[in-house]
This record gives sequence, C-alpha cells and structure tokens, in this order.
Amino acid sequence: MAILVTGGAGYIGSHTCIELLNAGYEIVVLDYFLNSKPEVINTIKEITQSAFKFYTIDLLDKNSLDKVFLENDIEAVIHFAALKAVGESSYNPLEYYHNNITSTLILCEKMRKYNVKNLVFSSSATVYGVPERCPISEDSPLKAKNPYGRTKLMIEEILQDLYASDKEWSICILRYFNPIGAHQSGLLGEDPNGIPNNLMPYITQVAIGKLKKLNVFGNQYPTNDGTGVRDYIHVVDLAVGHLKALERITFSTGVEVYNLGTGKGYSVLEMITAFEKASGKKIPYKIVESRPGDVAVCYADPEKAEKSLGWTATKGIDEMCKDAWRWQSLNPNGYEKNQERESPYCIPSEDFLIGNK
Ligand code: UD1
Repeated sequence: MAILVTGGAGYIGSHTCIELLNAGYEIVVLDYFLNSKPEVINTIKEITQSAFKFYTIDLLDKNSLDKVFLENDIEAVIHFAALKAVGESSYNPLEYYHNNITSTLILCEKMRKYNVKNLVFSSSATVYGVPERCPISEDSPLKAKNPYGRTKLMIEEILQDLYASDKEWSICILRYFNPIGAHQSGLLGEDPNGIPNNLMPYITQVAIGKLKKLNVFGNQYPTNDGTGVRDYIHVVDLAVGHLKALERITFSTGVEVYNLGTGKGYSVLEMITAFEKASGKKIPYKIVESRPGDVAVCYADPEKAEKSLGWTATKGIDEMCKDAWRWQSLNPNGYEKNQERESPYCIPSEDFLIGNK
C-alpha cells in the first residue's frame, strides 16, 4: 500500500516525502514542476537513500491520473499540488480557481473511482482572513481575502460536502501558518521563483547578497515594535504533522481541521534579529509602507492538533533561522547549482520519470 503525494517536489511536499520515507512508508509522487524543480526528486532519494515512483503529471490531465491509480496500490493521498502566490492570484484569478479547484475535483473523482477515500489536504491560515482574535482556533470565522485564499476555502467546503455525501471518506484539512527553515542536511529548502514574496526567503537572499536590503512592510501595527507578527513554523515540524494526520485518517472517517503552527508569534524585527544571530550576517532593512492585505497579528492555537493528533512543533526560531541560512548559503542559486552536485548514491532521474515527460 502506498501514499500518493501530489506536489511532492514542492517546498512542503518534498520535506513531507522525506519524513514519510524515513518512517517506512511507500510513496508515489506526482509533480508538474510549475513551482518546483525536477532536481528535488533526486535530492529526496539522496537524503533518504530510498527509491520511489515518480510521475510528471498535471492533475488537470484526467487520463494520466488513471494510470497512477491503476499502476499503484494507493491507500491515501496527501494533496499539496497548487498555485500559491497571493499577489499573482489577484492578477490571474481564473488561472488560480481553475488550477487549484479543478485539479482537486479531478483528484477526488479519481479517488472515488478507485475507492481511495483517505485524504490529507494542504490548506492555509490565510482562510482566517483578518482574525478576530489570537491565538486563532479552528472554529474561528473564515474569510479569505484574495483568490488564492478563496481557492483554499472553497476546497475546504467541497471536502466537507464530499464527506456529507459519503461517510466512508476520511479527510484531514491542515491549516498551515508560516512555514520557514529547511532540511537539516542543507540539500533541500525553499527555492522561490523570482524575487521572494515571503519574509524568510527574502531575508536569506539579502544575507547571501542577492538582494540589497529588506523592506519591512509597516511599523505602525498594534504590536510591541509596530511590525507584523506571525507564527513561523519549521517546515520539518510541518511535514511531521502530515504523518500524524495520515495515521489519524487511516483509522477513522470524517472531516477534521487542524491548525499547524507553534502558537508563538514573532514580529518582523524579531525575525531579523533572530536571523542575524543564527547566521552572523547583518540584514540591512528599511521601513516602508505596509503591504495591502497584510494583517497585524496572526498566530495559531495549536491545541487541537496536540490533543487529537499528538503533534506539536518542536523546533524553535533559532533552528528555523539556522536551517534556512544553511540551505541558502550552500545553495545561493537554489536548485540550479545543485544540478552540478555529484553524489555517489544519486539515482538518475530519467529512471524514475514516468508519464507525459
Ligand atoms: C503570506 C500570504 C499568505 C500565505 C503565506 C504563505 C500575503 C498577504 N499573505 O502570508 O496568504 O498563506 O504567505 O507563507 O501575501 N514582510 C516584510 N517584508 C517582506 C516580506 C514580508 O516586512 O519583504 C512581513 C509581512 O508584512 C508580514 C511578515 O513579514 O508581517 C510575514 O510575511 P510573509 O512571509 O509574506 O507571510 P504572510 O503575509 O503571513
């Protein structure tokens, strides 16, 4: 029995594949490399020294998905594949709705067809919009503020309807707070396309000299130092949360929603200080206008995940910053440089690229 991971080459997907393989799961991975690099597949194999089947597949391509279910004995699906840039989603809403929602519908239709009814879905704290209060619990009001966030919210509702129509489904919706950091090996991390939108990859690119200085978006928020506060969570902790969710869905049915966060908030200035301490690098910054759509404070109440899944974040802010910096300093150009890296146990990707390559 195998776990199908869609979007397994992405930032969170790839770290989850590593945890799954290390825990002894058999995995089958899909990706279409819209936001990720083929090199990641080899890196996962290199780190875990495990083999797995990989398919280059666009989830919107219904027919190729049949092949995956027919060729493998899939027990559950972890669905990461999606477009994820907030700003871009406002410029291309149709693309975002089509890509994220249609692909999930197709995936669920195929799951139903092949009687695979265990699903872990990647959602986001963005579904809370402007939170009424912090920490944010799962039953807080939902109101996404941009097309990306609305795709996540709509999919959550679709999954609720799916379970209501067929009580054999077992679905876990995970609402991520702000994932940062990288795999401890320094071989796997976040590699955004173009100039990063998110804070940590922006900071690491300033530290490596690719960007001149950080723009701090606003210092007039009602927080200790006036800058925005977020719940940063180590991507490996987040990955482990998926294993806990998987354990949960394989022995019960229903739809459950969990926050995956640490429950602690850090301001932008605190993040700069933590990163400088962890890396020994100075981060020049400038206070600029606040970013439209940003909220002042956002951090999780992670108690439900702790009680029901037995999961808590274990890695603190120093480790997050150290790991983010290790990844960036070893890979100044992300995965591009890694293509030249030689490894004695790297399996040529061609052997494992199946599907419409
Ligand atoms: C953003 C998205 C959110 C998405 C999440 C994924 C927006 C409005 N929200 O959340 O929907 O789920 O990423 O991780 O884009 N900051 C700076 N300078 C920068 C970048 C960020 O000061 O160059 C500040 C922001 O104002 C914020 C904090 O750093 O206070 C974190 O920002 P970011 O990493 O972009 O995450 P979110 O805004 O929380």
